Amino acid sequence: MQSRNDNATSETAILGADANGLAQAAAVLQRGGLIAFPTETVYGLGADARQPVAVAGIYAAKGRPSFNPLIVHVADLAAAEALVTFTPLARQLAQAFWPGALTLVLPLRPDAGISSLVTAGLTTLAVRVPDHPVARGLLREFGGPVAAPSANPSGRISPTTAAHVLAGLAGRIDGVIDGGACGVGLESTILDMTGDPVLLRAGGVPEEALENALGGLLRRPTGDAITAPGMMESHYAPRGTVRLNATEPRPGEVLLGFGAVAGHLTLSRNGDLREAAANLFDCLHRLDAMSASAVAVAPVPGHGLGAAINDRLRRAAAPRP
Ligand code: TXA
Ligand code: MG
Repeated sequence: MQSRNDNATSETAILGADANGLAQAAAVLQRGGLIAFPTETVYGLGADARQPVAVAGIYAAKGRPSFNPLIVHVADLAAAEALVTFTPLARQLAQAFWPGALTLVLPLRPDAGISSLVTAGLTTLAVRVPDHPVARGLLREFGGPVAAPSANPSGRISPTTAAHVLAGLAGRIDGVIDGGACGVGLESTILDMTGDPVLLRAGGVPEEALENALGGLLRRPTGDAITAPGMMESHYAPRGTVRLNATEPRPGEVLLGFGAVAGHLTLSRNGDLREAAANLFDCLHRLDAMSASAVAVAPVPGHGLGAAINDRLRRAAAPRP
């Protein structure tokens, strides 16, 4: 396998989620290549966060706007402390929720050694310790910080299986570790902890759990600056149009059901939000595979993981650029 960051010509290796696969994947990262790997949230597209050319390869493979900064994945809190400056409150959250689906935005340490392409020039860095045996094994084997956005072409549906990754990025990345389907199925919750906690993105850790731990309400971003550019309106988009809060399909529509609203595909028959989260992106990928040109989606309640599910559905339904 050769490291290759821009051309869409060579083959993408499918690596096993065993010691041999992890060793091969770590070697590719070391020489500046791109490896997609499973986390508990979604598959990430990883590169060594210290190698600018490797990080540039992520942007190239995804076709991602260069102003959109990346999350850095590390093996544990100690490794995160070497990259960013923690406040006591941020450390308390890390201890409570890591490893897990929580990303913290904190001031970047000047001596962190992270490529400025990772932060897109910001003075802050988003860090997370993933809770997946393959991700953790890879981080241990590699022994450094791994920058990894979701392993999908920019603006499209996030991958929750190795097959989803290959459907979007085959030939554009060096390899993918096949670790099966992701358990959570939604990206991490992102909190800006550089001041009072601000919720930048709803995700796999429900807001209510964070507010319990913080003993207070989370603020929302103010102003119109794109503080977390994943908050761009159109995102997570299947190819067909998307209509929300539908209880039955109109002619030509494929219905994505939930609970009592049974669809052609259903997020969760018994209305379980965890199951719906885990199924969401796979259902959207399957709608694409069916060439559905019009999709109607049943109402999903907004509490717990429902907040993040509805966030992704709204973006899937937003006008396309
Ligand atoms: O679950 C996840 O978070 C997955 C897995 C692979 O860890 N990763 C993921 O990455 O969703 P991505 O690149 O698709 O989304 C990262 C989000 C973007 O919205 C980006 O703008 C935001 O994190 N972000 C990164 N660094 C930031 C920073 N310094 N300040 C504010 N937002 C930041
Ligand atoms: Mg993404």
